[in-house]
Order: sequence, then structure tokens, then C-alpha cells
Amino acid sequence: KKSEAWSARFSEPVSDLVKRYTASVFFDKRMAAVDIRGSLAHAEMLQAQQIISAQDYADIQRGMAQISSEIESGQFEWLLDLEDVHLNIEKRLTELVGDAGKRLHTGRSRNDQVATDIRLYMRDAIDQIIGLLGQFRLALLDLAEKHSDTILPGFTHMQVAQPITFGHHLLAYIEMFGRDAERMQDCRKRVNRLPLGAAALAGTTFPIDRHRVAATLGFDDVCHNSLDAVSDRDFAIEFCAAASLVMTHISRMSEELIIWMSPRVGFIDIADRFCTGSSIMPQKKNPDVPELARGKTGRVNGNLIALLTLMKGQPLAYNKDNQEDKEPLFDTVDTLVDTLRIFADMAGGISVKAEAMRAAALQGYATATDLADYLVKKGLPFRDAHEAVAHAVRTCVEKNCDLSEMSLEELQSFSALIGADVFEVLSLEGSVAARDHVGGTAPKQVKAAISRIRQQLLK
Ligand code: ARG
Repeated sequence: KKSEAWSARFSEPVSDLVKRYTASVFFDKRMAAVDIRGSLAHAEMLQAQQIISAQDYADIQRGMAQISSEIESGQFEWLLDLEDVHLNIEKRLTELVGDAGKRLHTGRSRNDQVATDIRLYMRDAIDQIIGLLGQFRLALLDLAEKHSDTILPGFTHMQVAQPITFGHHLLAYIEMFGRDAERMQDCRKRVNRLPLGAAALAGTTFPIDRHRVAATLGFDDVCHNSLDAVSDRDFAIEFCAAASLVMTHISRMSEELIIWMSPRVGFIDIADRFCTGSSIMPQKKNPDVPELARGKTGRVNGNLIALLTLMKGQPLAYNKDNQEDKEPLFDTVDTLVDTLRIFADMAGGISVKAEAMRAAALQGYATATDLADYLVKKGLPFRDAHEAVAHAVRTCVEKNCDLSEMSLEELQSFSALIGADVFEVLSLEGSVAARDHVGGTAPKQVKAAISRIRQQLLK
């Protein structure tokens, strides 16, 4: 196909290299459906305001219906020569319906058009991601419910700290992903405003009705400054920041899944369909999915930095730099959608080895704090109790036994306040059950939290 100059303004066509360099159609064509939706809402407003005729609007509707079906069936011919999704569709419309197609761009610019398309695309993406976060949280809730009584060691500094329930551990992630969904919901409010009507940067001389277009497209409001409407991408940056936090949480969880699946720990197994083998070591079963998710966090963080950097030096209003917003944004959406889908499914494929968890909780003096608290309740100041238990632990380390394995007489040598009721306190079950307040690890609290969150999610 012969290269054409842009218009009579140009004396020569751009070189093939420049054409390829400036074109975006091969990635922005994914916005075709929202581009058509936006154009139809614009055309509907133009005819309502008598800027174009009812016949023009009807022709545009007919042409766009044809184009939609060509795109869906894969017959639409995307041309690099036509630079982007917007010009490709507009050109085809004019081929199909003639002058009505040429009138569509009245009172509009690609600058407000593309900003509208991105927002429509993102709104759908955000809704999908919020839905997937919900599904993932429901799957984690099911696992947490099965294991609201299963005890494992809780760690600080990767050292055994205190016994906790596995359900409680999972609830920590359920909280994180809940805040992620809230952040997405909050970001959506700022995404859902209409830039169309800003035209290139200053507005238009036509008597447009921006609120009508906003209502047709389901926007909550219009953007209130035309320069801002076409030039800022803060809403996309905000989305990428929220996405980075989702991946950060996914990555932390992945790290734990990987550690837990290591034979040295052996707390869980992950269903075979989420793991892969080795081309050389026949015995291997590797947790590839969590590892890859941990790795993909890097690209999502990179996309956030790309968008921040893209924006920082741009003077008002629109600059072509902004065309570079799409690939990082799309990549972030794709990565999040795939990751959340897989994790929602994988949660159901986690089998818990409760024996191994319990055995680990019995190592490392996880109930030492319980013994100190016990002494405090008998009247000893906390610092003195802490010291007495430290002596007891030191003796246990020397004798290679657990606190609960010492006789009452031995324990009493560290404090005369210790009585026969101490053993209940030193048991794993006693320890977790005693942390019985909102946010605590007691199975009763875990069950209450699970049913509260499930109700929120299902309403
Ligand atoms: N493809 C462009 C983008 O993604 C559309 C807007 C182009 N406007 C312009 N005046 N070059 O931002």
C-alpha cells in the first residue's frame, strides 16, 4: 500500500521507519470496542444537538455495527498506515457510509477520544479485577475455614514466635486482598469521569452536551478542565500503584507457599496442575506458579515506574508521549487478571499437612510468652516474669526439651507462683484459644472473622 502524506499540509509522506515508530494500532486495537462505544455516544449527542442530522447518526450506527462484526470475526483489516485504532475505525466508517463518517469527528479530537477510550477500558478492567479479588478471597476463606483450628508456628524474623492457627494466617492475606479491592474501587471513582468534549485541548466551538455523553457512557461526571482532561494520566498511574500492591501481596504469599512446600518445611503441598517437573531431575515437583507470580511482580512495579516517568516532564496539554501509557497499562491488567485467576483456582489445590505444622509449633518454645503472661496473672510484674521464663527456656535448651516437658517441680524452680494449672497454658491449643479478642488467633475469633468477611463478599 502506497504511503500517503497526512494532508495537504505535508509535502512528503513519513518514512516507513517513522511510520512504524509512531504507530500504535498493534497494541491499541484492543480498545476497538470501547472506541466504537465512545464514538456512538458522541454521534448520538451530535444529532440530539442538531450538529449532525438524524440520517448521519443512523448511517454512523449502521457503519459501526458492520465494523464491530468485522472486528469480532477477525475480518477487519488493521493498517499500520492509519497509525492507531481511532483512525483505522474512522477510515473504515467513511468507506462504508461516506460523508456521515467524515462528520463523526466534529467537535472532537483524538486527544479526548483516546483519553475516553482508556477510561472506558480501565473501568471494565477494574471491575473484572475487583471480581477476581473477591473470588480469590472466597477461595482463601474456604481454606481458612477448614483450618481454623490447625496450629502452626507463627514467625517473626523467621524465628518461631508464638503458635497461631493456619486460618488466622490466611486471614492476614484475606485482609490484604480486601484492602486491594477497596483501593481499586476508590481508583475507579477517578477513572470514571468523561474527558470527551475537551477536544484537542481547549474545548470546541460546537454546542455540545457533555453531560449527555457522560450519562450515555455511564460516567459519573465530566472532567472539569479541558487541558487536564486530555493530558493527565494520573488515574492510570493510580491504578498501576494499586496493581503493584496487589502483586506485592501475591508475591509475599508466593514466597510463603514456596517455603511451605519445600521438603525441609513440608507444611503444604500444591496440586500437580500448578507445578512443573525438571527436565533432568526426575524426582522434582517445583512450585512454578508462585515463583513466576513473585517474578511478575517486578514487571508490574516496572510498569508503574514507566508511567510515572512518562508523565513527569510533560508540559500541558496532550503530548505524543502519552501514547506510551498503553502497553504498561495493558500489561499490568493482563498480568493481574491471569495471576488472580490462577491464584483463585490454586487456593483450592493447597493441601495442608497439619501434622508437620503441629510438630514445628512444638519446637522453638512457642509458648514461652504464655508462661510469662501466666506469671503476670499470678501477680508477678511482666519484666520479672519475662526474666523467669528466659531462665526456664535456657534450661530447656540445655536439656533439649520443651517447656511443657518439664516437671511441675522443675518449673517451680523458676518461680514459686507456678502451679499445676500451668500445663494448660503451655499447650498449643491453650495458647491459641487464649488469644480470644477481635483480631486474635483463637479459633473462635477466626471462625467469626471468616463468616463476617464471607457475608460482606456475598452481599
Ligand atoms: N494514538 C494516540 C495516543 O495513544 C492518539 C492520540 C493522538 N493524538 C495526536 N495528536 N497525535 O495517545
